[in-house]
Amino acid sequence: MAAPFHRAARPLVSMDRPMTAQPFWDRMAPKYARKPVGDPDAYHEKLALAASLLKPGDRVLEIGCGTGTTALRLARHVAKYTATDGSRAMIGIAGTKLGPGAPENVTFHHADAAEQVAGAPFDAICAFSLLHLVEDVPGVLATVHAQLRPRGLFLSKTVCTKAAAWPIRVLIPTLTTLRIAPRVTPLSRAELVRHIADAGFEVERTMHFGKNRMSPIIVARKAA
Ligand SMILES: C[S@@+](CC[C@H](N)C(=O)[O-])C[C@H]1O[C@@H](n2cnc3c(N)ncnc32)[C@H](O)[C@@H]1O
Repeated sequence: MAAPFHRAARPLVSMDRPMTAQPFWDRMAPKYARKPVGDPDAYHEKLALAASLLKPGDRVLEIGCGTGTTALRLARHVAKYTATDGSRAMIGIAGTKLGPGAPENVTFHHADAAEQVAGAPFDAICAFSLLHLVEDVPGVLATVHAQLRPRGLFLSKTVCTKAAAWPIRVLIPTLTTLRIAPRVTPLSRAELVRHIADAGFEVERTMHFGKNRMSPIIVARKAA
């Protein structure tokens, strides 16, 4: 597997799973990179929460890292930060942000969230605005679990569309068909928490930042 934008020589471990999300996100990547953060206060609260949970010696994996903005910010708080995304275009843009001034402990790799990557076991795994986009949520959570050390941290933010008003719920599949929106796995917050618990995690906290009540942040730990 190609891994063009990283400083480490070690390749990823590929399990040759399909990259179903790639075409949509490859097309969206330049626009996504230009788009300002929707709710800057909520974004900074999320970063502050993550920074407070991470430790200086941690080896962190972020899955679905997009264009790498969050990775570059959180990497300053830890020892090593591996960031992956299923879209080559997203990872390509992330790679352009490496260089002078960027933290040197970050590596970007092209990988589906369902793939195991080199570097495991990690002390923490982050998945921001990702789980609702994967087709097999329990499968991805099993991969996250397999790559974490016991008591390792799993931090996620996930859009739970079952909490949306019905016109939005009806509209989403249409927008997906029209290729305006990505394919979304409909989830309620309770279902998401259950999936995470069923995968072998203890859910410690569920919270929201900002006005968006549809995208819970979940702090969980791999059961010992
Ligand atoms: C909404 S963006 C979020 C990006 C970033 N985490 C953030 O919070 O800004 C979703 C990202 O997930 C990636 N993605 C979607 N499905 C994926 C999958 N199955 N495996 C890995 N990445 C995936 C997309 O390529 C995209 O970069």
